[in-house]
Amino acid sequence: MHHGPHLPETPYASVAVTGGAGFVGRHLVTALSLLSLKVTVVDHAPLPAELEALPGVSHVRADLRDYGETLLALQGADAVFHLAGNASGTESVADPRRDFQLNALGTCNVGNACLELGVRRLVYLSSAIVYGTPLDSPIREDHPTRPFLPYGASKLSGELTLRSLYATAGLPVVIGRSFVVYGPGEDPRRAGGEVSQFLRWHLNERPIPVVGDIDLKRRDFIHVEDLCRAMLFLAARGADGETYNLGTGTAVSMRELAAAVGTATGRPALLDADTSSLADSFTLLADVTRLTGLGFAPRIPLTEGLTALTSLLGAFPEVPSARAVFRREAPARRVLTAGAAAGVREEAGTC
Ligand SMILES: NC(=O)c1ccc[n+]([C@@H]2O[C@H](COP(=O)([O-])OP(=O)(O)OC[C@H]3O[C@@H](n4cnc5c(N)ncnc54)[C@H](O)[C@@H]3O)[C@@H](O)[C@H]2O)c1
Repeated sequence: MHHGPHLPETPYASVAVTGGAGFVGRHLVTALSLLSLKVTVVDHAPLPAELEALPGVSHVRADLRDYGETLLALQGADAVFHLAGNASGTESVADPRRDFQLNALGTCNVGNACLELGVRRLVYLSSAIVYGTPLDSPIREDHPTRPFLPYGASKLSGELTLRSLYATAGLPVVIGRSFVVYGPGEDPRRAGGEVSQFLRWHLNERPIPVVGDIDLKRRDFIHVEDLCRAMLFLAARGADGETYNLGTGTAVSMRELAAAVGTATGRPALLDADTSSLADSFTLLADVTRLTGLGFAPRIPLTEGLTALTSLLGAFPEVPSARAVFRREAPARRVLTAGAAAGVREEAGTC
């Protein structure tokens, strides 16, 4: 699904995309290649086959936890899009140290390397998870940041580190906080996003499991291609040191999402609601005033994104195995104070 050239000018010839082999990264690399830029995918995973044939795309295999590798990999880039890291709330609960190394240390390395190499623009893809449980709706960028998952804490650490490098050394960084992303290419074993989960259950003719209140639980879903376009706006027009919400500004309840899934598939969807926890039955909605101020507007309505995804997934796609409930499996260890880790039960990690 490509929606014409409504993209900002991109004053960079050579760009690097960390995490370019991942779900969001593949779409961004494709968009940058279409703009005729020279794109280096920096990722410790192999280059996906779909990117191999794209003009101007090359791959450097590097682990961003290693500073030397990071420095080498980013050499020659005018602009860097930093997407690499752990994107799973569930995995961050299972292994918080790994999550911190990937997201916080990895981001510090990227920021420092950009300074050392004189990179002209760094765009960091952060997440609305840094806000924690919303106090207001819609959420503005100056909303308090009180993440409850290790994933949120590590993403926020990345943000704070990059902002400190802006304040002390002039790092030309722009930060984007993505709301819930959906679109082609999400890994059903890791993806926690409701859109693809709902569709996968329904296409398997199963009721859709949802934790929480189906009317009070509302999310701002952004199509991955719109998210990538928003990142191009940040790169071209974002202010140094500034943070931007990346969403659509529209909240959709779980009931409304199920109805849209029914419309897209031509068969009404059944919800199987578990209301034993209402911990994430809130509205997570972006205030997009800052983003739209750069000239960005989302172009793919949810109904259209769902219809395209439905035909792409086909009948009986793999059902999601990612759990939406974040609970430490192991009993609390001695190093953890009683109650701090035992019984962690949060359900708002889908961004
Ligand atoms: N998917 C979402 O819903 C969502 C929402 C908000 C923010 N984000 C952010 O967007 C970014 C990308 O998310 P995604 O869904 O594409 O994740 P993904 O897991 O599909 O991709 C991440 C990529 O980063 C690479 N990577 C991880 N650690 C690395 C390291 N140390 N060195 C080199 N490469 C490394 C992985 O190999 C992978 O290809 C993440 O930073 C995530 O926090 C994602």
